[in-house]
Order: sequence, then structure tokens, then C-alpha cells
Amino acid sequence: MVETDSKGNKILKVGSEKFVEYISEEKIQKRIAELGEEISKEYRDKLPVFIGILNGSFLFMADLMKNVTVRSEIDFLKLSSYGDAKISSGKVELIKELNADITDRYVVVVEDIVDSGLSIKYISELILKHQPAGLKVASLLVKPKSIKYDVKVDYTGFEIPDKFVLGYGLDYAQKYRNLRSIFILSE
Ligand code: PRP
Repeated sequence: MVETDSKGNKILKVGSEKFVEYISEEKIQKRIAELGEEISKEYRDKLPVFIGILNGSFLFMADLMKNVTVRSEIDFLKLSSYGDAKISSGKVELIKELNADITDRYVVVVEDIVDSGLSIKYISELILKHQPAGLKVASLLVKPKSIKYDVKVDYTGFEIPDKFVLGYGLDYAQKYRNLRSIFILSE
């Protein structure tokens, strides 16, 4: 899948489009270790519930949880907004509800990316209906220039430009989620 060009850059070709490695596996893992430490300090003795948003968050959720050192629980929500398109349809659909009882619990939502902010706004409103003790959001990637809704990300891995990215959970027409690093569409 991934090739190395003459300058040593990792390249992924998808049809006529070219992606270049933007955040390496090492950088991702280092940042997740920092986030895990920060979150563990904040949630000591709080028995937090981490809620991963499927599908995109599956690798980040797994690696983040390996770096969380406090007692905690996990659950998942599944939404669909983009389908196979690269640009949001503007609609969010709930495909899998919560199983955990989050009333009076400290909740941390785990996302792969906050783009327009629509998904996180929808998820936050849904979670707040259950009256948790606290709600925070962790997102590996945030596109500050794309955010159109009033959302707050409490734990950000990396801020990135408003360009299409794939890998490490993020897909292109459902593929490439298994790449260990993040690739960005090259000009
Ligand atoms: C992606 C991503 C976020 C959302 C971010 O999900 O995982 O949930 O889009 O975009 P937004 O801030 O504009 O709402 P997608 O709907 O593509 O599903 P996936 O996680 O299964 O890839």
C-alpha cells in the first residue's frame, strides 16, 4: 500500500490522488502517551467511562486506553454522517446506542477527528440528556479552521489544516483505517 519516494517520504496513491505521511506512528504514540498521563491525573478516583465513537476512533481508543492508568470503563457509540463521501452530509445518524449507564458518571468521549464539529455536538447533546457528572472530549485530530459549531475539545492530539486525512482509524471510502500513521492529501 505505502511506498517510499526518492526523498524518503512515505506515499500512498489512491486512484489519481496522492497522500503523504503527515503524522508518523512514533509521533502519534508519543502524543497519546502524554494524553493518557494527563487524563489519568485528572480522573484519579473518578472511575471515568470512556466512550469511543465508531468506526474512526477504534485505534485511538485502544492506544489511549493502554495509556490510561486509572480504573475506568469503556463503551462505544456508532454514528454515521459522512458515509463514503469526503465532505459531511450535514446529517448525523445514531447506529449504536450506549450500553453503559452514564448518569452521575464522568464521561470522556473519544473521537478520531473533529472536523465541522457536527458529530461532537450531536454526541454531547445526547450524552448530556443522561445527566453525567462531567463530560469531556478527547480527539486525536482537530481541524480548527473547519469547525462550524460551538464545540469544545478538552484533549487534542494534533491540530491539522483543513485537508483530507486518512489512516490510523480514518478512512477513504472505508479503506486505509489500518495504516499505523496519518496521511494527508498532497497538492
Ligand atoms: C468522522 C469522524 C468523526 C466525524 C468528524 O466520522 O470519525 O466522527 O466524521 O466530522 P464532523 O466534526 O464534521 O462531524 P464518519 O461519519 O466519517 O464515520 P467513521 O467514524 O465511521 O469514519
